[in-house]
Amino acid sequence: MTFPITRHRRLRRSAGLRNMVRETQLTVNDFIYPIFVTHGQNIKEEIPSMPGVYHLSLDLLKQEIDSVVASGVQSVLLFGIPEHKDAEGTSAYESDGIVQQAVRKVKSWAPELVVIADTCLCQFTDHGHCGAIVHHPSTGNAEVDNDQSLALLVKTAVAQAEAGADIIAPSNMMDGFVAAIREGLDEAGFEMIPIMSYSVKYASAYYGPFRDAAHSAPQFGDRKTYQMDPANVREALREAESDVIEGADMLMVKPALAYLDVLRQLKEHFDLPVVAYNVSAEYSMVKAAALNGWIDEKAIVLETLTGMKRAGADLIITYHALDAARWLKGE
Ligand code: PBG
Ligand code: ZN
Repeated sequence: MTFPITRHRRLRRSAGLRNMVRETQLTVNDFIYPIFVTHGQNIKEEIPSMPGVYHLSLDLLKQEIDSVVASGVQSVLLFGIPEHKDAEGTSAYESDGIVQQAVRKVKSWAPELVVIADTCLCQFTDHGHCGAIVHHPSTGNAEVDNDQSLALLVKTAVAQAEAGADIIAPSNMMDGFVAAIREGLDEAGFEMIPIMSYSVKYASAYYGPFRDAAHSAPQFGDRKTYQMDPANVREALREAESDVIEGADMLMVKPALAYLDVLRQLKEHFDLPVVAYNVSAEYSMVKAAALNGWIDEKAIVLETLTGMKRAGADLIITYHALDAARWLKGE
């Protein structure tokens, strides 16, 4: 008795056939590369928990931007590490704040590069929360003041747009942040600047290395009151829906790897571009295993990024972007 050769087995027979029937194409256009910028001169300091990722002073940023352009990656996401922190996160919205300075530089060196500014206060506040803090009148407990935070975030977004940012990416998760930032940008004459909303941001342990990198760990409490419960997916759809109504132009899911089902759901329910954030611990775990010789880094990274794309990501924010771009070129 012989069994028939199935159609899918015939279609896998040669590299040419596999290429022809491949459903997901990972390309360099999918990637957004995060960069941490800081004050000072001649600083290129590796983040210990994120091998291959650096704090860069603006004088050394030029080299990094040249590498990005050479890699073919179209877009960078800028995070600032300020010198000065205070309760209101003042240095986030000053016109010469570190992100604003970096945006101006990058746009002058590489006008075609799409520069995305992370809009949040946690790197800039001394308490490390994503907004302003008030003390509850009766209990005295510190809590995040949503409305005051919104006002500061709008100032930050406008300062970033004035510096030349192409996209504003608010990552703070305050209620109503998309509507507030949209209105603030429009009033300041930036109707054309899109908002990439961190719509579905889970309260995740996968941000650990980033918080070391950005010195942004909350000094008290946690972010569970404003970030989402990892157990929920229907709530993710509600969050995304309100962002769509408030005027978001792109929706983000963060982290990516443990939330591929959420990416898929967003893709099915909305017609906006969906962005996956392949966050710091997802990166660091791969790097650590690769440095130990336990895995094939290139194969693991390309498989993982392909998985995100297959799940529904139109764009992927990833610290692997420059390596992956090189690997996709066959280098
Ligand atoms: C801050 C912010 C975080 C990340 C991006 N923006 C951390 C957080 O919410 O604590 C995480 C990124 C990463 O882990 O790579 N709003
Ligand atoms: Zn934040």
